[in-house]
Amino acid sequence: MTEMMQRLKTLGIVPVVVLNDAEDALPLAERLVKGGLPCAEVTFRTAAAEEALRRMAKAFPEMILGAGTVLTTEQADRAIDAGAKFIVSPGLNPKVTEHVLKKGVPMTPGVCTPTEIEAALQFDLDVVKFFPAEPSGGLKMIKALAAPYVGLSFMPTGGIGPDNVRDYLRYDRIVACGGSWMVNGALVKEGKFDEIEALVREAAQIVKEIRG
Ligand code: 3PG
Repeated sequence: MTEMMQRLKTLGIVPVVVLNDAEDALPLAERLVKGGLPCAEVTFRTAAAEEALRRMAKAFPEMILGAGTVLTTEQADRAIDAGAKFIVSPGLNPKVTEHVLKKGVPMTPGVCTPTEIEAALQFDLDVVKFFPAEPSGGLKMIKALAAPYVGLSFMPTGGIGPDNVRDYLRYDRIVACGGSWMVNGALVKEGKFDEIEALVREAAQIVKEIRG
């Protein structure tokens, strides 16, 4: 596993961020850092994503910032140019995966079946996203998939929150869990960054409690 993945494993939880206004990027990044999770998956499903990522990467170079919901090579290029240190996609798109890896940037495509995992192994990946985690069988499914694919680690996202994240974190084949619960869209819209920081702090505390 790369040093960056090791750092993400230490952080344990990666906030999934959907920003509609790039003006929210810096106040949010500041709270993520202060709350103890200096990382984020900024999803490229809004027009503001690229600019938000660019601002966060410039102001907080110590953060591990990735781009999520990257569906095309063009989006991947824009994300990497904006400062993304890793690229995430909901599914495994061979064209996008090959493109990103050729640029020397880590890629974690989403998988939820053995066939998709074997497609990921064709790219020599040792970490994949497991998505959508809870609807696809959750931790039980990850453990079943992990058995034959020794050496493969998972980043589950989808349906994970403060009530079930502990179970995922206890399993050592999980690098980190992704989740949107800390950066709630309504809280961002209303500028309630104190509340966001409290949720981030609570999440960081859960990781500490489980992983030490
Ligand atoms: C995503 O939007 O990439 C994930 O589905 C986030 O899942 P969550 O909203 O259930 O945390």
